[in-house]
Amino acid sequence: MSLENPQRYTVTAALIYANGPIHIGHIAGCYLPADIYVRYLRSTGKDVAFISGTDEHGVPITIKAKKEGITPKEVVDKYYGQIKQAFSDFGISFDIYSRTSNQIHHETSQEFFTKLYEKGDFIEEVTEQYYDEVAGQFLADRYIVGTCPVCGNPNAYGDQCERCGTALSPTELIEPHSTLSGSKPVMRSTKNWFLPLDRMQPEIENYVNSHPEWKTNVFGQCQSWLKEGLRPRAMTRDLDWGIKVPLPNAEGKVLYVWFDAPIGYISMTKEWAAEQGRDWELYWRDEHTKLVHFIGKDNIVFHCIIFPAMLMAEGSFILADNVPANEFMNLEGDKISTSRNWAVWLHEYLDELPGKQDVLRYVLAANAPETKDSEFTWKDFQARNNSELVGILGNFINRAVVLTHKMADGHVPLLGELTAYDQQVLDELAQFPDRIGQSIGNYKFREALVSLMDLARLGNKYLAETEPWKAIKTDPQRAHTILNIALQITANLSIVCEPFLPFTAEKLRTQLNITDHFNWTNAGRADLLVEGHALGKAPAGPEDLMFAKIEDDEINKQIQKLLNAKRMNELEVKTVPELRSEITYDDFAKMDIRIGTITEAERVPKSDKLLKLKVDDGVGGRQILSGIAKHFAPEEIIGKQVTFLANLAPRKMMGFESQGMILMAEDRDGKLALIAPGDAVWNGGTVS
Ligand code: 2FM
Ligand code: ZN
Repeated sequence: MSLENPQRYTVTAALIYANGPIHIGHIAGCYLPADIYVRYLRSTGKDVAFISGTDEHGVPITIKAKKEGITPKEVVDKYYGQIKQAFSDFGISFDIYSRTSNQIHHETSQEFFTKLYEKGDFIEEVTEQYYDEVAGQFLADRYIVGTCPVCGNPNAYGDQCERCGTALSPTELIEPHSTLSGSKPVMRSTKNWFLPLDRMQPEIENYVNSHPEWKTNVFGQCQSWLKEGLRPRAMTRDLDWGIKVPLPNAEGKVLYVWFDAPIGYISMTKEWAAEQGRDWELYWRDEHTKLVHFIGKDNIVFHCIIFPAMLMAEGSFILADNVPANEFMNLEGDKISTSRNWAVWLHEYLDELPGKQDVLRYVLAANAPETKDSEFTWKDFQARNNSELVGILGNFINRAVVLTHKMADGHVPLLGELTAYDQQVLDELAQFPDRIGQSIGNYKFREALVSLMDLARLGNKYLAETEPWKAIKTDPQRAHTILNIALQITANLSIVCEPFLPFTAEKLRTQLNITDHFNWTNAGRADLLVEGHALGKAPAGPEDLMFAKIEDDEINKQIQKLLNAKRMNELEVKTVPELRSEITYDDFAKMDIRIGTITEAERVPKSDKLLKLKVDDGVGGRQILSGIAKHFAPEEIIGKQVTFLANLAPRKMMGFESQGMILMAEDRDGKLALIAPGDAVWNGGTVS
């Protein structure tokens, strides 16, 4: 059962691994919904702690370090800063964005572990675990992959199958192999500390079953794991990167990253509370506090089963009231993939489309993968900007503000007698904040956004039907009443759009010359702006518009960028050919490789492959036929220096004699490239 009308909230957003930048999938899946929710709560006057940061332990970090040839510490330092900055520039309003490498986090996690250990909550057991003899280490988590016993995914990790979400142990994988050396692992015994989830199942089941209001995807996944039966789970690992197991006999062992990471929510709350002079315990130990975890769907098992089990075992903390996990967002018809660079990276977006944070926030919220996977395309991004943000929301705001400057000297005009239609519009206006708020409170952000746009539509329709620009000529009082109402709608929009579009809300407050004491508690009212109130400066040019039209070339650049990434990928999967059999120096010396310049080039009739070239070889020139017609226009290679095999026996091709062979290589795009000397060389010079 969900808490009724709580006054205090602890809202967490997944602690992303600090092993790479963030992309739109992360934002749409977790951070944007969390931010919308929190901004709304703050606006309703709730006491909220919005907590997040980076997860800096675990195999994902050490794998990245190995790949980049730097230390794990260098990896997390690099990405923590980058991720934090990108979130901040994007307007994600965390109360704290910290990191699990901080001392306070190490201490909090170790204390937590020690408490469970002392209470006797762990099973201490020596088990046979996979060991990589080549790499000389145990294979935990992502160091081992194999086939998932539940769904058959051949790339399941040693701790989780990302396809079906199931939490696994390495020994459950079918045909496992080491990702460190590729070798087949052997078994070695080692001691670890297990949380007996099997014994705790009834308690966990009670908890999950008391939340039938959870999203169908979340509740359903939990039920299916519970049905499978929970198994004891090791909370320690034989690794060297992580938080040391705080026991005397645990040399070379660290806490499982999924043990320490969620405790990060608590340690970061402590950090924040200390900075703010608040009592952190109210946010984690008071049963009137509502705890909500925002995550992506691959984190469900950890937040709905394993972390709650840890908290239950510890005994002094509240459990999550809700875990509104989203599904995944795809990009232009394909899964977002870091390794294939198939992503829109937030820091690049912010660089390349400056000042357009709210456009991305809008498009990602409108397309959020709330109930099923969704899709981001640049064409949709452009269309939503141009027809919805510019055409509906921006258009209404601009008309209301500009008309007021024109027809009422930039001051909120008097509200005269109301027509039945005016009253109807005001009645409708009054209902919007509650409607939008309820959708947000129920984690239905798309629905909330539709209502928000409906309010702008109401405003547009009102102006179109009442035509104040005509009324001003015959009945100025009437025109002023209309403008007053339009401005009240605008002021309300500045409140209800703030969770979604905080940068726009700020701009709008400046145009209306209002402060942020306007909030959800007074939204819906028709007297937010008092008569005579002076608006801000009149919009002077396009830069004062709420949104600007996005042209095709801006979008095409982004599409081209993705196409380039795709092409690079296709090339990267090409395997480097095996070496041919060895030759002697004498074999090599038989080849007479020389430099020449192409002086003439023409197509060979009836051949789409061959070009007939005249090459200046320093001794009168020679004719060479080359199969490069699909890659070069004749005129583009005239004058180029090339390398050619000069003593290849002449042969006839399409009726012409070829006296040698031009040397070529494939470039990254699969296009042939001429092999030319780095510096100009005299024609006839030999290669040795
Ligand atoms: O999936 C991830 O990126 C994990 N690092 C999320 C951890 S969330 C929390 F538990 F810390
Ligand atoms: Zn699976």
